[in-house]
Amino acid sequence: MPSPNMRAALMPALLAAPMMLGTALSAQAGNGEDLFKQQCAACHAIQKDAPMGMGPNLAGIVGRAAGAMQGFPHSEEFTAALNGRNWTPELLDKWLENPQQVAKGTYMMYQQSDPAVRSAIIEYLKNIK
Ligand code: HEC
Repeated sequence: MPSPNMRAALMPALLAAPMMLGTALSAQAGNGEDLFKQQCAACHAIQKDAPMGMGPNLAGIVGRAAGAMQGFPHSEEFTAALNGRNWTPELLDKWLENPQQVAKGTYMMYQQSDPAVRSAIIEYLKNIK
């Protein structure tokens, strides 16, 4: 896991890049695994027990309690907004559309306006235990 200092240093770059990713790739809805690799894997590991990246490991995320990945330092905003909630497909869909609308101030800088892309990614995530 990156040290707090490293996280701070990486943050400005992360603010800019994924926003563009989300928009540029939105026309290519289809294979959820490819979409995950393109749009999420830069920050999230998906293999069970793989080391965390900038974001928590997402293996088994569908149905899991929000913020339950041990050892990941979530933002206060994330914890305040999502503590006690479960990652249903519906909540994930809202989250991927605009995380800032679910937990204003969250560290996750990403947005996906295309419902077909969001649903392809969520279908893929359902199958990763
Ligand atoms: C720029 C890096 C980045 C990208 C790209 C990104 N995320 Fe995240 N994600 C994060 C960070 C950082 C957090 C922790 C947010 C916090 O604590 O405020 C997070 C949190 C999450 C969570 C909550 C996990 C939990 O344990 O409760 C989910 C679900 C999630 N991301 C899914 C995705 C998916 C799916 C994609 C791709 C469509 C994606 N993210 C793209 C950085 C990113």
